[in-house]
Amino acid sequence: MSIIEKAVNKATPPGAVGADIGPGAGSGPADGGSLIEKAFDKEQAVSDQRHEPVPAPEPEAAESAPARQQSISLARLKRVGMITPADERSQMAEEFRLIKRPLLANAFGQGGAPIDKGNMIMVTSALPGEGKTFCAINLAISIAMEMDRTVLLVDADVAKPRIPDYLGLEVEKGLLDVLRDDHLTLADVLIRTDVEKLTILPAGRTYRRATELLASEAMDSLISEISQRYPDRLVIFDSPPLLSTTESSVLATHMGQIVMVVEAERTPQEALKEALAQIESCEVVGMLLNKATPLPGANYYGYYYGGYGS
Ligand SMILES: Nc1ncnc2c1ncn2[C@@H]1O[C@H](COP(=O)(O)OP(=O)(O)O)[C@@H](O)[C@H]1O
Ligand SMILES: [Mg+2]
Repeated sequence: MSIIEKAVNKATPPGAVGADIGPGAGSGPADGGSLIEKAFDKEQAVSDQRHEPVPAPEPEAAESAPARQQSISLARLKRVGMITPADERSQMAEEFRLIKRPLLANAFGQGGAPIDKGNMIMVTSALPGEGKTFCAINLAISIAMEMDRTVLLVDADVAKPRIPDYLGLEVEKGLLDVLRDDHLTLADVLIRTDVEKLTILPAGRTYRRATELLASEAMDSLISEISQRYPDRLVIFDSPPLLSTTESSVLATHMGQIVMVVEAERTPQEALKEALAQIESCEVVGMLLNKATPLPGANYYGYYYGGYGS
């Protein structure tokens, strides 16, 4: 048994997730970050919208209606290997279908009792660059696209928020602003997107003590508010690396489920062990082996090993 499996056996009850996903389905290089930074200008984004129409979102209840709506750059998503609504049969889409099933079952009790706060899911990893943001976005899009579930994607990596870059969103205020300013509410900063059922809570304007705010009482009550106000919504938190800062382990105490991203052939076993030790407060921890390359001749989906653990 590998050290990963041992660690998971310790940390994971039945029904937890476990899956491998490979590099971006041939549609983008593994260092897509530079692509994201360099990629399209606004004109391109406008042209994407023109050529790739998406259905108009349904109106939400007034109480939770975000103030703004923006278009996600679908061409940009495709370029870095992400799932897009037009790509429902892609390899990446298939992989995330497998990953989301146990998460949804745990959250909403399909085929068993729902777990406590199961709709609050943090995507994290030991180190930077292992694919947390990539996987959090793919998971969110995958669920919003196919399931009858509304997804709130929270950019909780306040020191290095990357979700707006990936999605091509222009962001002003967000989580940090709500935490600092009593006059702002969640609804003031949420961004609706043209992927129906997907709403984004951006990190907001960063500042010197930004990371401390994530571990503050204000954050505690904001998370409780989110969890109570949207019990039927899946809330996915993109987070900072566990071994660089302490915020992720504090965030973990509020989560019902954690997806631990492990980068194939790169995440050191010791780092993973240390990272798992920091999220012991959460009972349901699943592993997602990211950027895995299939063996020659192997059926790609043979790589999936779901529900390991006890
Ligand atoms: N499965 C994948 N296929 C292709 N590229 C990926 C994959 N996962 C991550 N990447 C790329 O790896 C880089 C780091 O990913 P990112 O999600 O930003 O890491 P983190 O959030 O853990 O710091 C980005 O350029 C991203 O596009
Ligand atoms: Mg990230």
